[in-house]
Amino acid sequence: MEKLLIRGGRALEGEIRISGAKNAVLPILAATLLGDSPSSVGNVPHLKDVTTTMELLGRMGVSLTVDDQMNIEVDPSTIQDLTAPYELVKTMRASILVLGPILARYGEANVSLPGGCAIGSRPVDLHVRGLEAMGADVRVEGGYIRARARRLRGARLVLENVTVTGTENLMMAATLASGTTVIENAAREPEVADLAAFLTAMGAHIEGAGTDCITVHGVERLQGCAHRVLPDRIETGTYLVAGAITGGRVRLKDTRPDTLDAVLVKLEAAGARLSVGTDWIELDMQGRRPRAVDVRTAPYPAFPTDMQAQFTALDAVAEGSATITETVFENRFMHVQEIRRMGADIRVSGNTAFVRGVERLYAAPVMATDLRASASLILAGLVAEGETVVDRIYHIDRGYDCIEEKLSQLGADIRRVPA
Ligand code: UD1
Repeated sequence: MEKLLIRGGRALEGEIRISGAKNAVLPILAATLLGDSPSSVGNVPHLKDVTTTMELLGRMGVSLTVDDQMNIEVDPSTIQDLTAPYELVKTMRASILVLGPILARYGEANVSLPGGCAIGSRPVDLHVRGLEAMGADVRVEGGYIRARARRLRGARLVLENVTVTGTENLMMAATLASGTTVIENAAREPEVADLAAFLTAMGAHIEGAGTDCITVHGVERLQGCAHRVLPDRIETGTYLVAGAITGGRVRLKDTRPDTLDAVLVKLEAAGARLSVGTDWIELDMQGRRPRAVDVRTAPYPAFPTDMQAQFTALDAVAEGSATITETVFENRFMHVQEIRRMGADIRVSGNTAFVRGVERLYAAPVMATDLRASASLILAGLVAEGETVVDRIYHIDRGYDCIEEKLSQLGADIRRVPA
């Protein structure tokens, strides 16, 4: 298994380009299945989750072509198998995003349940209940969600929890339903709005995407279209923290500062000087040590859970103490024990981490447990004394496009080694 070696201590400086958003490209690739003709998706990041989605569509018989600029053309008309198999779904929960589109377009869908989860408990009950309210017959057999519907019917859906992929699945399904669907308590994430822009370009009638009430007037058919994926706000936030934690100065281009308000406020509170344009952000820490900042995660536009681990690393070396409260996912503090092995002073109680900033972290072999946890370990490695070895980095490749190249471009001492 490959590892990353990071020698800490350099203040990052320079400019990099931000890639397209993982959480926008995955639902958009799924949405191409709704069309009667091919779609072209641009600004696609090089990510394992994108490859997995392409493999998933390919297994269904969908034709895909990729050019050297990572524009992906998807022709759904060759589809044969309306199944998302367990081997792929278990590696990427977002595979569930094909459920709504294939059911709405082809009247049938068989999607494996994500590993270790049952309907009724955590993961996809809201997706399923929404589809049932739209008239689908849904059963769980042999670990698969088997959904059938001749044509979905518009319905009023009140989501019990704010769910991003749940909102996306139901919004996609509603585009081809008969009548109007209203999704209340919808997720307001910018990626939901980007998906709605894609669907609208296909011919869908959607109002309110980006607010907590989305109305979809169903249409008979949708056509393929061309779309450029919105920039990745979590990748942006991660490199801003990399600048801040190292006392450096970084400029990020091809991004969207307006999707990062809650994160930027916290970086300023940590002592960063920020300048923003419509598509760039510059952070200057002027060599200073960050100040500790409290963070509480919640659905957009509040502070994103996908930035929680990175701010835990920032607070670990900051001046002062802070609390980090996670309200979106249970058990999302797996990075804490690893950062503690590097000398951090962090105590977790329930859904809150109490962080006391230390002057210095020390390199240690650490292990990535999930995507954003891996990012936090790399950030800690950038400031630790000595050489940090991050193992199990396949997580990072799921969601960060060329992370070691981008960090090297900013002057970090980081390299990838084979196992
Ligand atoms: C998406 C993002 C992920 C991000 C998360 C929260 C993608 C591909 N992934 O994940 O990066 O961390 O939003 O911002 O966009 N829930 C239920 N029942 C459901 C669905 C969700 O109870 O049917 C709960 C979850 O357990 C969780 C909360 O709702 O506590 C939010 O999860 P959700 O927004 O669905 O996360 P994802 O869409 O999987």
